[in-house]
Amino acid sequence: MMPRDVVLLLLVLFGASSGCLQDAPSAYNLTGVVCRLTYPAVAVLNEKTTKVIEAAFQHARYPSMNGEKSLLFIGRVLYGLDNLEIHNLSIGRSAFELLPGEGIAMEISNVSAVFKGTIQYGYGSWLVSVAQSLDFEIESQIDLGINPKLYCGEGKVAADTSDCYLNFHKLHLHLQGDKEPNWLKKLFTDFITFTVKLVIKGQICKEINKVANILADFIQERAEHFLSDGNISVDVGVTTAPVITANYIESYHKGLTHYNNTTAVISDSGFHPSQLTEHRMLYFRLSDHMLNPMLTAAHQDGRFQLNVSGDELANAFQSNLSSSTPEFITQCLADPSSSELRVWSSSVPRLNTTSAGSTVWAQASAELRCGTEGTPTLSFQTDVVVDVTVSYSEKKLFMQGDVRQISLIRAELPLNDQLLQDEKQQEFIREAVKKVGVPKVLSGEKRF
Ligand SMILES: *[C@@H]1O[C@H](CO)[C@@H](O)[C@H](O)[C@H]1NC(C)=O
Ligand SMILES: *[C@@H]1O[C@H](CO)[C@@H](O)[C@H](O)[C@H]1NC(C)=O
Ligand SMILES: *[C@@H]1O[C@H](CO)[C@@H](O)[C@H](O)[C@H]1NC(C)=O
Ligand SMILES: *[C@@H]1O[C@H](CO)[C@@H](O)[C@H](O)[C@H]1NC(C)=O
Ligand SMILES: *[C@@H]1O[C@H](CO)[C@@H](O)[C@H](O)[C@H]1NC(C)=O
Ligand SMILES: *[C@@H]1O[C@H](CO)[C@@H](O)[C@H](O)[C@H]1NC(C)=O
Ligand SMILES: *[C@@H]1O[C@H](CO)[C@@H](O)[C@H](O)[C@H]1NC(C)=O
Ligand SMILES: *[C@@H]1O[C@H](CO)[C@@H](O)[C@H](O)[C@H]1NC(C)=O
Ligand SMILES: *[C@@H]1O[C@H](CO)[C@@H](O)[C@H](O)[C@H]1NC(C)=O
Repeated sequence: MMPRDVVLLLLVLFGASSGCLQDAPSAYNLTGVVCRLTYPAVAVLNEKTTKVIEAAFQHARYPSMNGEKSLLFIGRVLYGLDNLEIHNLSIGRSAFELLPGEGIAMEISNVSAVFKGTIQYGYGSWLVSVAQSLDFEIESQIDLGINPKLYCGEGKVAADTSDCYLNFHKLHLHLQGDKEPNWLKKLFTDFITFTVKLVIKGQICKEINKVANILADFIQERAEHFLSDGNISVDVGVTTAPVITANYIESYHKGLTHYNNTTAVISDSGFHPSQLTEHRMLYFRLSDHMLNPMLTAAHQDGRFQLNVSGDELANAFQSNLSSSTPEFITQCLADPSSSELRVWSSSVPRLNTTSAGSTVWAQASAELRCGTEGTPTLSFQTDVVVDVTVSYSEKKLFMQGDVRQISLIRAELPLNDQLLQDEKQQEFIREAVKKVGVPKVLSGEKRF
């Protein structure tokens, strides 16, 4: 089962956080990450709800039950129910509805299941110590309804699934052997029917709550784990209760980067639900206020580094650049076994998103070494402004960049102790950064 696919969990959207605000509008400015699931996405996820229901039935522990009855002519009858197990569970249909401002109404109909167990009994004056036992089987058909309410308390958003009901369409008892006197059978039938209904209802509704909460904690951990790496971590605790409209469920998260004992602060993210539409199935909005501290941490942690050497470096320069390759570079690449290019971010990159897309300002430094270990042959620093489009498909993040602006701040030939002043060679470097460097950096693994 893939818990992240489970609609029940959407209700329990990510726990653990302090300062859960009751007033959504004032929480928006503290929100770095927003997740909006529209109705069609919830519908897809709802198909997985059956898995949760199955788990709830299978994992429920049914306690032993005892009863006692005094009957005319027979006297006291004692009986008990043990080892209740469930078999052959099948789920007919599940449907849901988003109730604006309230919660989600879920209806799981036609759950058919066979319960098996043992009944022990003793009666008459000689009984009790001479208890007899009898295996039984109950065929049942049940409709299950859950109306989870979302609440925000103790800094957590959770679902209260106590509004849970079971309707039994069918409950047939089969006693093994079936050779008991009729009055006893009748007594067992009444007792078992009543008890089983009570036990099943109590245990299964309880189990649904438990399974949902375990999986919700799991999702919270996964989300945090997904966004965290090494010493960089992200607090995805909620800022306010999820909002439910007829068309979507939306959750609000802090998105605070934590690195080197410093935690980012987001106080004016300027988010408003009207910024998102309802056309797509899933929106995952990471605000610049969340991404910029993450970029800062990644920069400080030395994540923006790229070393290219050997054939990979030689191949990178095979692409068609209109400026002619300076002689010293051609020579350097002629021996791929000993050439290496190192690139790193030399100032904190900055990102700004507008309705037109995202723009990144970055300063990159590079050194090209040819054969010699120590002193680089070429060393330069550039400022680049890149318009970035990010797309997501097949579980991968794709980034494309158009270099909007590039300037060479400094270029030297340290081996010769000279500045690189040749205008054509400078143009080659700018073109190489634009056509080779930026695409190479953006095509790298999307993980930091
Ligand atoms: C469960 O289903 C299988 C196959 O349909 C059947 O052989 C078996 O008897 C069923 N078990 C119970 C307890 O009804
Ligand atoms: C419930 O399931 C049984 C068998 O699993 C089927 O015969 C019946 O038509 C179903 N009823 C509904 C309302 O889906
Ligand atoms: C995390 O930081 C500590 C102390 O700065 C350092 O020793 C450790 O190597 C870092 N761990 C990772 C995975 O970067
Ligand atoms: C971590 O923070 C301390 C000061 O709080 C600073 O001196 C140190 O350079 C920082 N380390 C990194 C890797 O940013
Ligand atoms: C963070 O602070 C704690 C306690 O102040 C200290 O023990 C720890 O070494 C610090 N970690 C880093 C990475 O600076
Ligand atoms: C959110 O922050 C913006 C910019 O600082 C401010 O103009 C706006 O009033 C804030 N909204 C709320 C509800 O606090
Ligand atoms: C690149 O090479 C330098 C020098 O060998 C090394 O310090 C650095 O860690 C390397 N970076 C990466 C990302 O491999
Ligand atoms: C370079 O240009 C030539 C012809 O102009 C073309 O055939 C070739 O595919 C191009 N190579 C690359 C890597 O773009
Ligand atoms: C981002 O762009 C907007 C619109 O061009 C501008 O008003 C804002 O100041 C920019 N923010 C940063 C951090 O550059």
